[in-house]
Amino acid sequence: MCGIVGYVGSRKAQEVLIKGLSRLEYRGYDSAGVAILEGHKINLVKRQGKLRILTDVLKSEPAKGSIGVGHTRWATHGVPNDVNAHPHLDCASKIAVVHNGIIENYLDLKKTLMKEGHRFSSETDTEVIAHLIEKYYKDDLETAVLKTIRSLKGSYAIAAIHASEPDKVVGARCDSPLIVGVGEGENFLASDVPAVLDYTKNIIYLDNHELITITKKGVTIKDYSGRIIQKNPSKIKWDIKQAEKAGHSHFMLKEIYEQGAVLDGILDERLHDGKVVFEELAIKDNDLKRFTKIAIVACGTAYHAGLTGKYMLEEYARIPCWVDTSSEFRYRDPIVDKNTLVIIISQSGETADSLAALREAKRKGAKTLGICNVVGSSIARESDGVIYTHAGPEIAVASTKAYTAQLAVLYLVTLYLGRLRKVIGSAKFDHIIKEFRRAPALMNSLIDEYRSDYNNIAAYAGEFKKYYFEKHNKSHFLYLGRNINYPNALEGALKLKEISYISAEGYAAGEMKHGPIALIDENPWVVCIAVQSKTYDKMLSNIQEIKARGGIVIAITTEGDEEIMHHNVNYVIELPKIDELFSPLLVVIPLQLLAYYVAKKFGYDIDQPRNLAKSVTVE
Ligand code: AGP
Repeated sequence: MCGIVGYVGSRKAQEVLIKGLSRLEYRGYDSAGVAILEGHKINLVKRQGKLRILTDVLKSEPAKGSIGVGHTRWATHGVPNDVNAHPHLDCASKIAVVHNGIIENYLDLKKTLMKEGHRFSSETDTEVIAHLIEKYYKDDLETAVLKTIRSLKGSYAIAAIHASEPDKVVGARCDSPLIVGVGEGENFLASDVPAVLDYTKNIIYLDNHELITITKKGVTIKDYSGRIIQKNPSKIKWDIKQAEKAGHSHFMLKEIYEQGAVLDGILDERLHDGKVVFEELAIKDNDLKRFTKIAIVACGTAYHAGLTGKYMLEEYARIPCWVDTSSEFRYRDPIVDKNTLVIIISQSGETADSLAALREAKRKGAKTLGICNVVGSSIARESDGVIYTHAGPEIAVASTKAYTAQLAVLYLVTLYLGRLRKVIGSAKFDHIIKEFRRAPALMNSLIDEYRSDYNNIAAYAGEFKKYYFEKHNKSHFLYLGRNINYPNALEGALKLKEISYISAEGYAAGEMKHGPIALIDENPWVVCIAVQSKTYDKMLSNIQEIKARGGIVIAITTEGDEEIMHHNVNYVIELPKIDELFSPLLVVIPLQLLAYYVAKKFGYDIDQPRNLAKSVTVE
């Protein structure tokens, strides 16, 4: 996934573009570049590496002008280097283009263009767009872009400028997000809202196959037949401060700390007079009652939220539920039909595999419900119904507050369906809600404890680092959980590996004897989720088996647990008491912090880990 920005107005385009790219760097950071029109000349500056490298160059050689496009890249075609960095130019250096997505037929297009005499400088798919616009350009950029996109196959959000028309930026989107920031005497294009929030809160979300032209004076949106489409801007409710670190050393830590407040907000928004309310759902109760099964489809952390949702939905709403990763669901010809509710969970709402899975579910006649965080995202707009998690912008690549917000929405969906299907009586409902309402304060108390005493988890991370090097980098992690906390074992492992690059595996603790126990010697560190639950005794047995073989155990327990101390665990993390149903909301916090502090001790880039991007909008 990449980030693109376009600007036309009276400010220095360089400042606007760099600021916008800095808000989009979470989308990819292999290279960055800007193309700015100075009179009738394009000033192109682009560099491999993070945005700060480009910014340093521009400090010494500023690019003048008030119209331009910018790009921050997550490489798909062509290694990250200066030449493959966007923006890309045509042969005459009159056109500059930035692109997010994948042009699947770029090789055929490139061959044809080269036969027609076009000279290419990069290995990217994007460069064909610049040469196609050049090929089709007569005297109107918008027409040339329209002809160009009609020949593209694949996904794209693009923004283009032409030296002969130094008053506009033209863009278009298909399966990659593109929004318009509507200002006064200035207008913006961007991959995501944070890129323009420093200047305007008036946002238009473009749909697939829409062509956009922005000038100082205004915004024109057309469909691909050239018909003008009227769209009014919507006002963004949150401000750019929420998309900043607010004094924290990393976005990830800030977002971990925000989880209690986010959950409070969700409960306040969704619980009214003892009822669960989903204003934006748009799926009728009669339809919801009709479903005989639920499929939950997602990727990565969202998939782990879905796995947790399965336990809630089956135990409390008594509806059969299965969970698939999006990339498996979309290709296995799943058995879904009009009696199936397919829930697609996606923080960004732009994950390519999840968007494709949504379309496959709809093609098969299933009703689809999107649980998304980004308002107006593709999955949110293409699902039959949507429930927003309203966790605010999640900037760190490692998902934290979006995960617990997804769990919160799944709990509420479970309660809603349970009441609708008359399997949860009002007394039980009230008891569950009362316990649910305790969770935000308990999450905050947990975080305050960590925040105040430079928590034991940071110390454990330091111990691990020492141990890791003593073992000549051979140590690794195993996470074990059972029942509703089994998905948290997977989530804890994912958090650790994606920001500390240390091998980690999550496993159902009951599966230990079926293979993983062979891993146990003094090497792996084993995180055991052993909070009070119906399977607590089984977890104690697992811990005994591990200790008997010299393993190192970090036990996550419930405060006041005397029993665990007799099992010679190496480290203990105590959590406040809460009903087992809601324990995943608390358990995940030390798992997130353990990953954070290990990565911090190893000195890695926590918010922008190598090889990753915040949303994978390519397959
Ligand atoms: C989680 O920390 C990762 N960043 C990744 O697994 C992520 O959850 C996954 O790519 C799904 O993203 P989405 O929720 O935006 O669809």
